[in-house]
Amino acid sequence: MINVQAVSKTFKDKKTFVTALKHVSFSMKEGEVTGLLGENGAGKTTLLRMIATLLTPSEGNVTVAGFDTVKNSAAIKKQIGVLFGGETGLYDRLTARENLEYFARLYGMSKHETKVRIDELAKMFGMRDYLDRKVGGFSKGMRQKVAIARAIIHNPQIILFDEPTTGLDITSSNVFRQLVHQLKREGKTIVFSSHIMEEVSMLCDSVAMMHKGELVYQGDLEGLYKEEGSRDLNYIFMSKLVRRDEYAS
Ligand SMILES: Nc1ncnc2c1ncn2[C@@H]1O[C@H](COP(=O)(O)OP(=O)(O)OP(=O)(O)O)[C@@H](O)[C@H]1O
Ligand SMILES: [Mg+2]
Repeated sequence: MINVQAVSKTFKDKKTFVTALKHVSFSMKEGEVTGLLGENGAGKTTLLRMIATLLTPSEGNVTVAGFDTVKNSAAIKKQIGVLFGGETGLYDRLTARENLEYFARLYGMSKHETKVRIDELAKMFGMRDYLDRKVGGFSKGMRQKVAIARAIIHNPQIILFDEPTTGLDITSSNVFRQLVHQLKREGKTIVFSSHIMEEVSMLCDSVAMMHKGELVYQGDLEGLYKEEGSRDLNYIFMSKLVRRDEYAS
């Protein structure tokens, strides 16, 4: 479903070059929930942006549902829903409902379809009380919920979330968790980055661990637990990084 092949990404920052991804290869199967783990600056957002066709690889290629992210970005865009941390992409002067209607229209959804979908999402996220209030006055968590709803308004088959629960309270994080379970039941393919190990171990079938632009591990969680003789993802992650750094030095 998602194939990343020998991908590298280098950014030119004035006169210095920053290598955000180094020969990263992996694949994600249809209907699978994958957690993307890594320290700050590991390359998670860069990788997600690349899968979302928003960045071009410096080397290698990425395909989503058989389409190349560079040559066929339009075909991919219709099938994916994306949410990037910090950038909710919402209009402050519009209400939550108007924001959702606006994005639904961009995806060519009919008025009726849009209404039904907004009702469904508002119920799911407990947003009914403030659906008709302007987003400008929303708290961070309220905004994030609208942003998540916006990302999946068109019922996409593939969903990419960059740190979706950052800034959410426990109730809202749980709403997100329920949403992932539901999307999984619907057979959606989901990739999300997170710094919360508990969330990843609860929701994901597989994990991709990044470290300094390289992929340290990719595979199913159960296999990893067996391999490491532990079910403590935090511990496994830290020890993988330590081993990696020792090997590199
Ligand atoms: N547009 C850009 N220009 C220059 N450097 C960039 C750009 N985007 C990312 N980088 C660099 O690429 C590296 C990886 O960044 P990235 O945002 O992918 O990390 P991340 O894993 O998402 O980190 P975090 O957990 O902090 O969100 C960092 O060194 C970052 O500074
Ligand atoms: Mg990031």
